[in-house]
Amino acid sequence: MISRRALLTGAGVALAAGPLRAAPTPLSLADSAKGAGLLYGASIGQEALDDPAYAALYRRQTSILTTDVALKFDWLRPTPDRFDFSYADAILGFALDSGKPLRGHTLIWNDRAPDWLKRLPGREVERIFDDHIERVVSRYAGKLYAWDVVNEPFWPLDGKSGGWRDGPWFAAMGPSYVERAFRRVAAIDKTGRLALNEAQCDNDHDWGKSIRPLLAGLVERLLDAGAPLDTVGLQSHLQPQWPADYPAFAHYIEGFAARGLTVSITEFDVNDSVFPDDVAARDRAVAATGATFLNAVLAVPAVDMVVNWQLSDRYSWYRELSRRPPRVLPFDDADRAKPLASAMTAAFAAAPPRRLPAPRRQ
Ligand code: G3I
Repeated sequence: MISRRALLTGAGVALAAGPLRAAPTPLSLADSAKGAGLLYGASIGQEALDDPAYAALYRRQTSILTTDVALKFDWLRPTPDRFDFSYADAILGFALDSGKPLRGHTLIWNDRAPDWLKRLPGREVERIFDDHIERVVSRYAGKLYAWDVVNEPFWPLDGKSGGWRDGPWFAAMGPSYVERAFRRVAAIDKTGRLALNEAQCDNDHDWGKSIRPLLAGLVERLLDAGAPLDTVGLQSHLQPQWPADYPAFAHYIEGFAARGLTVSITEFDVNDSVFPDDVAARDRAVAATGATFLNAVLAVPAVDMVVNWQLSDRYSWYRELSRRPPRVLPFDDADRAKPLASAMTAAFAAAPPRRLPAPRRQ
């Protein structure tokens, strides 16, 4: 017999209808991706070390991490005579404690170089190039899943013949810096997968249309020269305000797969600047764009992972660029899953299975 009190407090409902079944906990994005043999993750920075709730989101939702700034040259080398590994060591510690493989981003990038480096003569820049790779890769050898060895080699707006991105490394060594970097890293770290990481290729803006063939040509030359390249990283900061043909982009990716490379989606987010202010409508549009993109690219079995660039909107790089709080990632400012998270889960579920590549062994 259910007491009057129980009925009034609602406890009787459970007794009357049998035990209430707790709503099933939704699969994490990592578990959804695992079903297709994919890794899923995000870039990670100081905010995850400082914010326990954000750290918990990484632990629950991801199966791989990428350093945001901690392993960039300007963060490791604040002055010509000092390395500061403390931030990178803390991020690696978080990854190891969480049991998550870590991607190192990025050893060599002609952008964001410190002024002290830019002022040096070419021969000194070359010496620092070799020394930097030696010191950093030796410290983390065997501890990283992959390196973005070179980031963004191309930027046609710099006006260099061949569309190369200008900067201290290119100025000192020309295009040869790319192969030199890959060979030097491979000689030190025998297990991390070595990636060439590029932006813009996913769109049909002039930038995307011009960089795609440049990247494909560089990859061909590196492979024909026997350079130790394992992966092409395609950043995939989607720009729906520009034209894009994601099935054609998937065909472009297949070109790398045909040469035996894996392809990593390394910095996935969806620029929402062209979508309505209304949050529900904007979230739907971001999710639809993400779904179209992922359904196209995940059909290519050589795609081994999808990595967002941060997990929550509140730490997105778009905050510095947007006229309003951005909604470009799967989790909102309160770490709540958004329609993009559901779209990603559905795309992972629909993706054909694949086998994760083994670590590189030499
Ligand atoms: O944390 C310091 C803060 O203490 C200080 O007061 C402030 C002063 O400016 O700087 C803060 O550091 C900023 C850092 O992000 C925080 O994480 C740096 O100024 C800022 O330059 C840095 O920007 C990063 C940028 O790369 C340059 O490294 C962005 O967060 C990061 O999202 C962005 O990521 C790039 C990828 O590496 C390559 N692909 C494009 C992507 C987006 O631009």
